[in-house]
Amino acid sequence: MIEQMMRNFFLFLGENKKMTKLAKKYGLSLGASRFVAGATLEDSLDALRKLNKKGFSITLDHLGEFVDNEKEANEMTDHCIEAIEFIDKHNLDSQLSLKITSMGLDISRELCMKNMRRIMDKAKQHGVFVTIDMEDHSRCGVTLEVFKELKQEYDNIGTVIQAYLYRTIDDLNELDEYQPRLRIVKGAYKEPEEVAFPNKKDVDQNFKNLIQIHLLRGRFTSIATHDDEIIRFTKELVKRHNIPKDQFEFQMLYGIRPERQEEIIKEGYNMRIYVPYGDDWYGYNMRRLAERPANVAFVLKGIMKK
Ligand code: FDA
Repeated sequence: MIEQMMRNFFLFLGENKKMTKLAKKYGLSLGASRFVAGATLEDSLDALRKLNKKGFSITLDHLGEFVDNEKEANEMTDHCIEAIEFIDKHNLDSQLSLKITSMGLDISRELCMKNMRRIMDKAKQHGVFVTIDMEDHSRCGVTLEVFKELKQEYDNIGTVIQAYLYRTIDDLNELDEYQPRLRIVKGAYKEPEEVAFPNKKDVDQNFKNLIQIHLLRGRFTSIATHDDEIIRFTKELVKRHNIPKDQFEFQMLYGIRPERQEEIIKEGYNMRIYVPYGDDWYGYNMRRLAERPANVAFVLKGIMKK
């Protein structure tokens, strides 16, 4: 009950535009560095190299929330292009993740597509794979449409499906003709009961179901979770069906359960770490706190250090 209240509180804070702008002004503080590699790409390089050296693949994400004008959308696009060039220049084993609202989706679909094609052309040129993150349910349909359109032009693109949405099973079936590489997650936004399973038990069961269907269809699957039970289920499933290790990977967020991340690599599985960077860390951090209010301790430590 208290946990649920805290979860709602952090999700509410994370969606607050004024707080986002304030937090940006104060720079990388409030314990953000535990979950964010650095304020710039150069600042993040050491952390990225360390991860690759340990055997982790990476997906880089330039943080940004609430882009509501064309100038900001174009700047966010430039950041993605810069990240692609950076990955290639430093020979990093890394993909790119992005949110299409950052590329201008809420301003116009046309602007978003123009920016996405700029990114995808560069990504193709440098051999970098791009994943479109999934945002809140109101943008799920349009995100999948954008993905489908781009997938017909580029093969180095994937997207995300969320186990908490009722619609996702149908989406998975409709997406299959595109032979998509999909990241499957529980879902990070505060969603109403009309669209999302309110109980964790149902979300977890749906998560397992989606993983099984996608893997057994022979599609590449990224299982993005810190949940030991889902990880156990996946390991057993791939063993039972002789699914090769290059058809799936586990993914976790930078700074969350780092010891578990290393154990999974040592067991011989592929593990990709989602690494956010940039000064717009606020909303991202609030969602991490909502998932696990125990992380508040890290944030408080960050404040004390200031
Ligand atoms: P959950 O939060 O239920 O945690 C399960 C268990 O994991 C806990 O009971 C605990 O045992 C353990 N655990 C979790 N956090 C821990 C911690 N900090 N320390 C110790 N143990 C911990 N969402 C979205 O909506 N769109 C997206 O595009 C993405 N993309 C994405 C990429 C990647 C790589 C990841 C890992 C996640 C996302 N997400 C996401 C977020 C996702 O939807 C979800 O909110 C979080 O992953 C949290 O859910 P879990 O599956 O980890 O399980």
